[in-house]
Amino acid sequence: MKALILAGGSGTRLKPITHTIPKQLLPVANKPILFYVLDQIREAGITDVGIIISPETGSYIKEALGDGSRWGSRITYVPQSEPRGLAHAVRTALDFLGDSPFLMFLGDNLVEGGVKSFVQEFDNHSPDALVLLKEVPDPRLFGVAELNGKGKVIHLVEKPKEPKTNLALVGVYLFTTEIHRAIDRIKPSGRGELEITDAIQKLLDMGKDIDSHILAGWWLDTGKKDDLLEANRVVLDSLLKRDVKGEIDSTSKIVGRVEVKEGARVENSTVRGPVSIAEGCRIRNSFIGPFTSIGVGATVEDSSVGHSVILENSSICGIERLEDSLIGTRVELKKADERFKAVKLFVGCDSSLEL
Ligand code: TTP
Repeated sequence: MKALILAGGSGTRLKPITHTIPKQLLPVANKPILFYVLDQIREAGITDVGIIISPETGSYIKEALGDGSRWGSRITYVPQSEPRGLAHAVRTALDFLGDSPFLMFLGDNLVEGGVKSFVQEFDNHSPDALVLLKEVPDPRLFGVAELNGKGKVIHLVEKPKEPKTNLALVGVYLFTTEIHRAIDRIKPSGRGELEITDAIQKLLDMGKDIDSHILAGWWLDTGKKDDLLEANRVVLDSLLKRDVKGEIDSTSKIVGRVEVKEGARVENSTVRGPVSIAEGCRIRNSFIGPFTSIGVGATVEDSSVGHSVILENSSICGIERLEDSLIGTRVELKKADERFKAVKLFVGCDSSLEL
């Protein structure tokens, strides 16, 4: 069994952050999303891993993951020249996949509890494919599956106007080589992409056997800003443990599940968990929390920050309350001189500000 992680794409919905960081490397609870994906693949016993990368961000991903030895895995990078769809990515990886069955994992998705049981189910029952499903409140936004009484998939529709079920396709799939024959028989969709939903529906049209597994835990797709903040909230809430290694002065209060990494310093501040504060941060005269991650080397001074993700080496100074925010790397946010009733900005393309 091999694994294929899709970490190409354009990340349009997460610009401007994705101008410089591939979305799959954005941190959730201060750990890049792809690291969770690789952990779960390793835990499922798969060590031969292909990663689809794009020309724009592939080098960042290679630098972050290297040859995979950190996970005890062997990584093969598969460049995809353009993001022409999830099924196109599978076709691009044909040389790597050969005649092996494989686990396909979208590199910006997180699932609770890993994929081991799901891989075992596939091994034990040997269907032609197995899809992971999750009950969602608004299935019109997803690929939606219809099942028979035995949990076999009988029909799939991409973003249906009138969904027949509330079972959305999660970004984790198990395929046999049959999927390549199905991909060969599909055409690009209205948005010009080779869709994996169409390929799986084609498998059904070919009379193939598709099992499903309904996920009980959370599923997080981090494609947009609010999704990433939600992923940060859920992961901090369910996985974070109290672990204070940094320096906390006597006038500070650390409440609940808070992680303060080595070399971080908290002075005259209150941190109310769940909160993750990375290595080398400086927190002074501030209130942090809840549901907040502060990246390596960031500074927060005379400010209050909650429900936010702050990336490496940014600085926040004199901000009364920052909420629901995703702040990129090396961003400087500071209070203006109160004598001038004006906002002063130096902001790059695709930024979004609510003042
Ligand atoms: P999407 O989030 O569907 O696509 P995208 O990254 O292009 O995002 P946006 O719509 O904001 O521009 O992709 C899901 C995952 O699959 C993500 O990790 C990127 C990856 N992917 C590829 O590797 N190749 C592709 O051709 C596409 C479409 C996505």
